[in-house]
Amino acid sequence: MTGSADTITPLHKVCVIGWPVAHSRSPLIHTTWLARHGIKGEYHRVAVPPEELADTLRCLPALGYHGANVTVPHKEAAFAALMPFVDPPAQRLQAVNTVYRDPDTATIRGTNTDGVGFLAHLRHAVPDFDGTTAVVLGAGGAARAIVDALETDAGMAVRIVNRTVARARDMVAALDLKASIYRWEDMGEALRGADLLVNSTSLGMAGQPPLRIDLAPLPAHAVVYDIVYVPLETDLLTQARARGLRTVDGLGMLLRQAAPGFVRWFGEAIDDGDVAAARALIEADLNRDTG
Ligand code: ATR
Repeated sequence: MTGSADTITPLHKVCVIGWPVAHSRSPLIHTTWLARHGIKGEYHRVAVPPEELADTLRCLPALGYHGANVTVPHKEAAFAALMPFVDPPAQRLQAVNTVYRDPDTATIRGTNTDGVGFLAHLRHAVPDFDGTTAVVLGAGGAARAIVDALETDAGMAVRIVNRTVARARDMVAALDLKASIYRWEDMGEALRGADLLVNSTSLGMAGQPPLRIDLAPLPAHAVVYDIVYVPLETDLLTQARARGLRTVDGLGMLLRQAAPGFVRWFGEAIDDGDVAAARALIEADLNRDTG
């Protein structure tokens, strides 16, 4: 035995694949966790154009990576490229956000942690939440994971409100859900009696139009969850707080969808202290960008 533990321990490298990818906060999250856990690993950003995605995923190990996150606009294409090596959450959503090497078969597999991250943050932020009816605004990629998690995993009745009703219908049919669908103009009716409101549209995000809705029909015990985190305090959350409603911001979802990937790649579980540490750094980063 000659080499030290340092020289024989393989350096685990993981990356986030997007197009563009410069603004991804995932490297900040994972490098913070690697440092806190004393793990020798690296997490890079890799910009991959759509036409190179499938080859990049297939060649991940040859490129030196044993895992990856996949972000906009590649989640659906990553699912198609990795089929049939996908786990049930990715299969349901037909979208992959986390890629890992299966230690038993050495194959590259895809999974999806968006739904689990969304629910984990809700349960952490509002531990006594026991609502049964949720309203979800939106029917895009983010909404898919959220609606599916709320109905399938949390067993809630879901009301979807989307500007394009046909898109909401397609989503409900594709996921084989029972969720009811409301037109944007019928927002008030959808909100009446709801225990949870989730904004999963891009409205309210920096650079996008504002989200203007009247929260008056929501009951006083309702929770308002905005998955937008730039800015962290969206107009929706400010308005909800002004009405005395409990609020949940979008940064926790980003952090908690990252945790299952970290466990798979680096073998260590993420605790609330790890989440809080990464959160503080991202908040500082966001304040620098917007300040
Ligand atoms: P993501 O994958 O991040 O969810 P997306 O697929 O582009 O992004 O979805 C964006 C969501 O925001 C959609 O629900 C979209 O509504 P449509 O399905 O009608 O396009 C919603 N959205 C975007 N701009 C909007 C606007 N100005 N008014 C209402 N909804 C809007």
